[in-house]
Amino acid sequence: MKIKQAVIPVAGKGTRFLPATKEIPKEMIPIIDRPMIHYIVQEAIDSGIEQIIFVNSTHKESIENYFDRNYALEKFLESNNKLKELELIQKIGTMAEIVSVRQKEQLGLGHAILVTEALIGHDNFAVLLGDDLIVGTPPCTQQLIKTSAANGDNPVIGIMDVPKNDVSKYGIIDGTFINADHKTVLMKEMIEKPTPAKTPTTWATPGRYILSRDIFDYLKQIKRGAGGEYQLTDAINLMCKNRSVFAHFFSGKRYDTGNIFGYLEATMNFALNDARLREYSIELIKKLSKELP
Ligand code: G1P
Repeated sequence: MKIKQAVIPVAGKGTRFLPATKEIPKEMIPIIDRPMIHYIVQEAIDSGIEQIIFVNSTHKESIENYFDRNYALEKFLESNNKLKELELIQKIGTMAEIVSVRQKEQLGLGHAILVTEALIGHDNFAVLLGDDLIVGTPPCTQQLIKTSAANGDNPVIGIMDVPKNDVSKYGIIDGTFINADHKTVLMKEMIEKPTPAKTPTTWATPGRYILSRDIFDYLKQIKRGAGGEYQLTDAINLMCKNRSVFAHFFSGKRYDTGNIFGYLEATMNFALNDARLREYSIELIKKLSKELP
């Protein structure tokens, strides 16, 4: 089954990035020279996705504008002979078909996915959460699409091992490995943000999912869960009791850019891995460290 649609929820208020997010959507905060959302959309496109569905809220129009053409800027760059820059922004304006839907109340991730129901076709679709950047080849979402195809086109949740003390930040899954390479798990349950004392495993999702359309049936059945919100995790938990759902340990380096520490780590690492900035960054870190009082 070809997976062509990806849902990216972007309706959150981004309170961990205040005051910047008072006027700028969290997703538009840049890492080096492009906003965080660019990297997420790029992961989806590089995984074969053709249509991006943003679950949006008020004051977030700049996200859609970023992926649209900007003819005034294009004209300006053209008449000033800035052809490299022109090509760059034209490419961003055409990289994906963007659709958006409003989440009128912030009732949780499960609710955010439910509002896309009318836009999702019969095929499976991907969900990518913007707080985590995952860098690697092949892209994380492509690894999950491949795992789904290899396992009867069933849903697949991307997972990683986390320290036990961190389980309460994530949706945690439990299940049994389906083969000896210990990468793919047939899921038994999924729990949103368990305590370290109660968690069944340390297998956490950083927010990468391949879902089938019947997720909407389960999203309609769930009640408010952790944090008083409608949780996608609770719907997946119901789903895996009724049909095969897999989880897969993806490969790649993941940055938790939902907080300023992970954001700083990503920024420094991206600079160190950017040929234009590598030498300069190394020298700068040495110089600044020496200058510390
Ligand atoms: C959400 C999901 C959680 C997932 C996490 C990944 O939680 O509910 O299952 O593990 O994203 O970042 P949030 O971080 O929005 O509280």
